[in-house]
Amino acid sequence: MLEFRKVTKAYPNGPIALNDVTLSVSQGEFVFVVGQSGAGKTTLTKLLLREEKPTQGQIILNGRDITKMRAGEIPYLRRSIGVVFQDFRLMPNWTVEENVAFAMVVVEASPRLIHRRVAKVLELVGLTHKAKQLPGKLSGGEQQRVALARAIANQPAFVIADEPTGNLDPETAWGIVKLLLEINAAGTTMLMVTHAKQIVDSLRKRVVALEGGCVVRDEERGVYHG
Ligand SMILES: Nc1ncnc2c1ncn2[C@@H]1O[C@H](COP(=O)(O)OP(=O)(O)OP(=O)(O)O)[C@@H](O)[C@H]1O
Ligand SMILES: [Mg+2]
Repeated sequence: MLEFRKVTKAYPNGPIALNDVTLSVSQGEFVFVVGQSGAGKTTLTKLLLREEKPTQGQIILNGRDITKMRAGEIPYLRRSIGVVFQDFRLMPNWTVEENVAFAMVVVEASPRLIHRRVAKVLELVGLTHKAKQLPGKLSGGEQQRVALARAIANQPAFVIADEPTGNLDPETAWGIVKLLLEINAAGTTMLMVTHAKQIVDSLRKRVVALEGGCVVRDEERGVYHG
């Protein structure tokens, strides 16, 4: 479903963040992306969302080269991918359920469907009782679960999580990872960028390791350090 073909990204007046990356991910896979700070992990996710364009190469998502998409198509691309950011990016003045519903409002889902789906995803992440709260009143782990609920509200076929457990204690982090695994088990392709060695090493999923912008390892049932 996703293919990076010889993708290079050099930021203007900056480093080469990705260097000739070729990578293919099938529908339903769970992939950890690991690598030191500055290795190019977030750049990879930004290219997928067309927040950045590669300097060279092609990125094929569901048969389309997204590097060639017109500006008008990009919002549709972004809506088709669920994204979880490390810093949550929730709207502080909206309640939990409004934050989750927003993802569906922008795709013009019917109010009835929104109501049903928001209730369902909040239940999945265990936050039904916090639906009317503002994010500022929630713990970090709870906010991350709201962000996850928002990412899956539209039932995207593909979810990217960029260090979704970065700010969480180990137990809460495991709770988030279990949710990601459940969503993946239901058929969603999952790309998780992480520094959480313990999580990667115990799950033995596919691991793609970046170093200096290059893929230095791509292993089925991989570990954090090669
Ligand atoms: N907007 C930008 N302009 C210029 N250089 C950038 C920009 N964004 C990232 N870089 C550089 O590109 C390289 C890769 O950055 P990237 O954010 O992809 O790393 P990362 O693997 O996500 O690191 P971390 O684990 O710290 O999040 C780094 O050297 C970084 O300084
Ligand atoms: Mg990063």
